[in-house]
Amino acid sequence: MLKPSKLAKNNFLSSLDLSAEEVLHILDLATNFKNKKINIDLKNKVLGLIFDKSSTRTRVSFQVAMTRLGGTTIDLNPNTSQIVRGEPIKDTAKVLSRYCDVLAIRTFKQSVLEEYAKWATIPVINALTDLEHPCQALADFLTIKEEFGELKGKVLSYIGDGNNVANSLILCGALLGVEVRIACPKGYEPNHALINKVLEIYGNKSLLKITNDPAMASAGADILYTDVWSSMGEENQKTQKDKEFYGFTIDSDLLSKASKDAIVLHCLPAYRDKEITDEIIDSKNSRIFEQAENRMHVQQALLACILS
Ligand code: CP
Ligand code: NVA
Repeated sequence: MLKPSKLAKNNFLSSLDLSAEEVLHILDLATNFKNKKINIDLKNKVLGLIFDKSSTRTRVSFQVAMTRLGGTTIDLNPNTSQIVRGEPIKDTAKVLSRYCDVLAIRTFKQSVLEEYAKWATIPVINALTDLEHPCQALADFLTIKEEFGELKGKVLSYIGDGNNVANSLILCGALLGVEVRIACPKGYEPNHALINKVLEIYGNKSLLKITNDPAMASAGADILYTDVWSSMGEENQKTQKDKEFYGFTIDSDLLSKASKDAIVLHCLPAYRDKEITDEIIDSKNSRIFEQAENRMHVQQALLACILS
C-alpha cells in the first residue's frame, strides 16, 4: 500500500513549495484514495479553515477530505471571530496553533497568508490568494493525468485572465514539464515576478508561452482551460473587463483548433456564456466536474502527507 510521505516544507503557500516528486506522489496518493485503496486514520486531527472570501469547492472538499481521514474541521468564519475586529494575525495564528493541527486560509494578499505562516507553529495551506491557487493546480494536473496518463509533453492552453489560477498552473506546469500557453488581453498577463521564477526553473528550454491570441494558443492543445475574467475582489472592474475580454471565450470554434482529443477544464465557479459557453461546459470534451471532484482527492492526499 502506498504510504503518505512527509513533505520537505512545512507549509503549502505556493505551488513551488512542492518538488516535482512531491507533486507526483500526491497525485498517486490521491488516485489511491479515489479508488479506495488506502485508509488513513488521523485520529481526530483538526483542520481550521479561515476564509476571507466565499467558497463552495475548496471549503467543502477540505471538510469532506478531513472527515474521510478520520479528522475534523472547524470553520473559523472571520466575521464571527475576532479576526473581523482586527486582532493581529500574529496573535490569531499563535492561538489557533494551540487548538488546531493545520490551517487552510483563503484571503486576498499573499503577504497575509505568509504572515499567518510566519507566526503559526502548525502547517498552513493556501486555499486561494490573489496570487495563487495551488490546491486547484494539484486537482487540475490529476485530472489531466487521468485523461492522458502522461503529463510531460502535454500542452495546456489557458485562455483568459492572468490571475491566481493561471499563476499556479504556470508554476505547477513548469515543475511537471507541461507546456503552458497563456492567452490573455494586453495588460492582463500573469504576475511578472512569478514568470521570472518559472523561467529560472526551465533554464534555457522554457515551455511557457504568453500571447494575446487565443486561436494561436489553442492550436493543437491537449487541454483548454479558463477561469472567470473578474476574480473575487474585482467586482468593480467587471463591466470594463467584460469588454476587454471579448473574443477570449472558450466556444466550439476555439475548441475546434485544439487537438481532436482535447479536454476542457474550468476551476469553477463559472459565468456560463462568458468565459466559456454553456454548450462546452456540458460537452463530451468537458472534464470540469471530474476536476471539481478531484479537489477532494488531492486535498485528502495533501492532508495525509502533512499530518500522518
Ligand atoms: N475552484 C474553487 O476554488 O472554487 P470555490 O471558490 O468554490 O472554492
Ligand atoms: N480566479 C478566481 C478563482 C475562484 C476559484 C477568483 O480568485 O475569484
